[in-house]
Amino acid sequence: RPRVLSGVQPSGDLHIGNFVGALGQWVEMLDDYDCFFCIVDLHALTSTRKATGSTVASRARDVAALYVACGIDPSRATIFVQSQVPEHSELMWLLTCSTPLGALQRMTQFKGKSGQTDSIEAGLLVYPVLQAADILLYDTEIVPVGDDQRQHIELTRDIAQKFNAVHGETFVLPRARVPLTGARIMGLDDPDKKMSKTDAVIHPNHSIGLLSSESVIRKRIARAVTDSGDYVEADSEALSAGVRNLVEILASFDHLSFDEALRRVAGESYGKLKETVADSIVSTTEPIRERYEALRADEAELDRILQDGAEKASEVARRTLLRAQTALGIR
Ligand code: TYM
Repeated sequence: RPRVLSGVQPSGDLHIGNFVGALGQWVEMLDDYDCFFCIVDLHALTSTRKATGSTVASRARDVAALYVACGIDPSRATIFVQSQVPEHSELMWLLTCSTPLGALQRMTQFKGKSGQTDSIEAGLLVYPVLQAADILLYDTEIVPVGDDQRQHIELTRDIAQKFNAVHGETFVLPRARVPLTGARIMGLDDPDKKMSKTDAVIHPNHSIGLLSSESVIRKRIARAVTDSGDYVEADSEALSAGVRNLVEILASFDHLSFDEALRRVAGESYGKLKETVADSIVSTTEPIRERYEALRADEAELDRILQDGAEKASEVARRTLLRAQTALGIR
């Protein structure tokens, strides 16, 4: 079975964009792929400035419980925490030594995040190299992610290709898999901006958490920005960004194409559209929230799942790292 790897940063509450862009997609791959799902706590150290290591560790357990609650069965996929497999950091260094600085400076995510503050840490710049190590260590063929990660996967491919060309065939070249709908869910308060965990902290109406209660979900959707119109246009070209985003959310949660979802709501009032969208989110997330509560309460079981996952991941990672070290001639 082809190998799959993906990951989420335990940097804050996961939102519905993370679900439709990533986790929801992963669940559908369990049968046909050999899946590795990582909780990238080392990456989260770049974004959670004030977070201490221990809050990152506790959030890693939150994310692990959420993975399982979403349907990622630990007996069918390897779930592990990045920092528990030290090969990630080690391979990262080997890759950093041959990654052009210019390529890192050109990354959209880096430009966006570094533009927001005066003092930026080097971790933000080399972030995609650690991501490349995550992917290459497992001979990954497919990386299921949201649209915003495409560029990082392309860079990973470039890094691998260059390494192979210089040192001989070492790494499998991965490619991104982005869902047809829901690859880029926009902010509810500002549909020109991607929904993000960081914005959610500053603007409460920006997003909906995957674990939000029904009343919060309904309130947030009711407040979502639309436009001055009253009814959903049947022509997708005529939709404003806000309405388009709501239809996209509906399509993702109900497993429809965008056009199918639009046909279902065309002609409805915005009020009715919002009700339909909220119903759809609630019916998917409510059972996830219930399972999550039970799973999160059993820390010993979570730690067992993660230890088991780290052991399985290490076995693969160790072999690949050794291959890279040998190719480089340092082993
Ligand atoms: P992170 O934690 O920001 O996001 C996790 C996943 O959610 C997707 N996503 C979205 N999808 C649709 N709409 C949105 N608004 C939205 N926001 C986020 C992301 O594309 C991602 O798939 N760099 C990665 C973490 C990472 C990783 C990896 C991913 C580290 N190593 C190796 C894949 C493979 C990140 O920041 O994800």
